[in-house]
Amino acid sequence: MILPPPHPADGRLALTEPELVAWGERLGRAITAPLCVTLAGDLGAGKTTLVQAICRGYGVRDDVTSPTFALVHEYRGGPTVVYHLDLYRLKHPSELVPLGWDDLLSERALVVVEWPERAGEMLPAVPLAITLAHVPGEPGRRLLLTGGHAGATAFGGDDT
Ligand SMILES: Nc1ncnc2c1ncn2[C@@H]1O[C@H](COP(=O)(O)OP(=O)(O)OP(=O)(O)O)[C@@H](O)[C@H]1O
Ligand SMILES: [Mg+2]
Repeated sequence: MILPPPHPADGRLALTEPELVAWGERLGRAITAPLCVTLAGDLGAGKTTLVQAICRGYGVRDDVTSPTFALVHEYRGGPTVVYHLDLYRLKHPSELVPLGWDDLLSERALVVVEWPERAGEMLPAVPLAITLAHVPGEPGRRLLLTGGHAGATAFGGDDT
């Protein structure tokens, strides 16, 4: 019988801000659109910081700021247009319809989405789902998780 390792959840990727930014810039350089990237995580987890790095790597020269009130910002300068959405203030997924959500996703664009869970069933299967989480006791580091959102709570992401 093959036993699992004794502490399968002990490993982690906890990055400082410069490390996270460097990672995001590399990701941005490697990305080919069309692609949707989601960034989940609590307030202040570093989602916008990471979006800024991804956009810089992708070639965007505009200021990348959180589109909290506009819900979507559009940037140029990279190989395709970039749509940056922040769904924090979305009250219901249906509010995505007047935003042109379906069109955004079917364009040959890079679409980055903060607070993707707010989109509910309107969220397509996302190939690159990132979660950032606070590290209890380490204010300068953030956990970087990929491949779904299930790990964040298990790693203590909601404790701060
Ligand atoms: N390792 C780290 N990675 C990212 N940000 C960090 C890190 N350490 C500290 N920070 C700080 O945490 C804050 C992250 O803010 P940011 O706006 O990127 O978060 P957010 O997840 O987009 O929040 P919100 O949900 O409010 O939009 C920044 O002030 C940043 O300087
Ligand atoms: Mg943000």
